[in-house]
Amino acid sequence: MTDVICIGAAVVDIPLRPVSKNIFDIESYPVDRIAMTIGGDAINEATIISRLGYKTALMSKVGEDAAGKFILDFCQKEGIDTEALNIDPKVDTSINVGLVTEDGERTFVTNRNGSLWKTDITDVDFSKFKGARLLTLASIFNCPLLDNKSLVQIFKKAKEENMIICADMIKPRFSEKLEDIGEALGYIDYFFPNYDEACLLSGEKDLDAVADSFLKYGVKHVIIKTGKEGCFIKTKEKSVKVPAISGIKAIDTIGAGDNFAAGFITALLDGKELINCAQFANAAASIAVQNPGATTGVLNKKQVEKVFEYYG
Ligand code: ADP
Ligand code: NA
Repeated sequence: MTDVICIGAAVVDIPLRPVSKNIFDIESYPVDRIAMTIGGDAINEATIISRLGYKTALMSKVGEDAAGKFILDFCQKEGIDTEALNIDPKVDTSINVGLVTEDGERTFVTNRNGSLWKTDITDVDFSKFKGARLLTLASIFNCPLLDNKSLVQIFKKAKEENMIICADMIKPRFSEKLEDIGEALGYIDYFFPNYDEACLLSGEKDLDAVADSFLKYGVKHVIIKTGKEGCFIKTKEKSVKVPAISGIKAIDTIGAGDNFAAGFITALLDGKELINCAQFANAAASIAVQNPGATTGVLNKKQVEKVFEYYG
C-alpha cells in the first residue's frame, strides 16, 4: 500500500571539487573525487519520507542507461516504490556536473535534453493514486513540461482520490509569473517555497504580503522556508513564525528544503498539528544542513524525534 506519491526530478549529480576558474588552462585537471551521487528534489524527498516510515512511490523519468540503473538501485536500497518510475529508452538520464571552487562557488553543466527536461504527465501513473494519502510535487518549475495545465490535471485526480496535496518550488526557469501557475496553486493544501523563490514569484518582499499572494490563489497553507530563521506559516485565519533549531553548525544546505518537506509531510501523516508539523520539518532540515549532501543526515525517525524535543 502506497502512502505518498512523489512526483518530480530524479537525476545523477557529479560534483567536481575543487576546480579553479582557469580550468581550461590546465591540460589534465585533478579533483578529489569523480563519482555519481543521487540528486533531484523528488528522489531526495522520497528518500527521507521513506526513511521516516511512510511507503513512497516515486514518479519520474529516467533513461535506460547506467545513470538510470544507479537511480533504480538507490531506490531499491531505500525501499522506495519504483513500480511507476518510467524507464524511457529514448532519453538519457539527466546528469548534472557541478563545478565547485575551493570557496564554495559553483556552477552546473546540465543536459538540456536529459530526462528531467522530458518528464511530463505521461510519467504519472494515475492508477497508483487509489488509496494513497498524499501527493507531493517536488518541485514546481523543475521539470518544465509539468506546467500549469499538467499540474491541474494531476492535482484534480489527486483530489478525486481525497489525497492531501503538497508542493515545493524552485526559481522560475522562464520568468514565469504567479498567474502562470495560479490555477494549479488553487489545489495545493501545503506549499513550501523558500523565501527567495517566493519573493521572486510573487513580486513581494514582506512575508505576510508574499504569503497573501499565494493564499489569494487558493493555497490552503503557505509555509515559507526562511533558512536559519526557520519558517513562516500563514493560512486565511492566522500566521506564525516557527524558529529553526538554533545552536547548530550548518555545513551544507543542499537539499535542506527537501528534508524540510519530508519532515513536514511525515508529521502531517502522523496527525500532528500544523505548528508541530513545521517544527518537525525544521528538525529534519537542521539534521540535513549539518551533513554533506541531501540524504546523509536524516537516517531514521528516532533521530528527528530527538531533535524535535527541542521545542518542548
Ligand atoms: P531551501 O533549502 O529550499 O533553499 P532554506 O534555505 O530556507 O530552503 O532552508 C530550509 C530549512 O532548513 C529551513 O526552513 C530551516 O528549517 C533549515 N535550516 C536552514 N539553514 C539552517 C540553519 N543555519 N540552522 C538551522 N536550520 C536551518
Ligand atoms: Na529547495
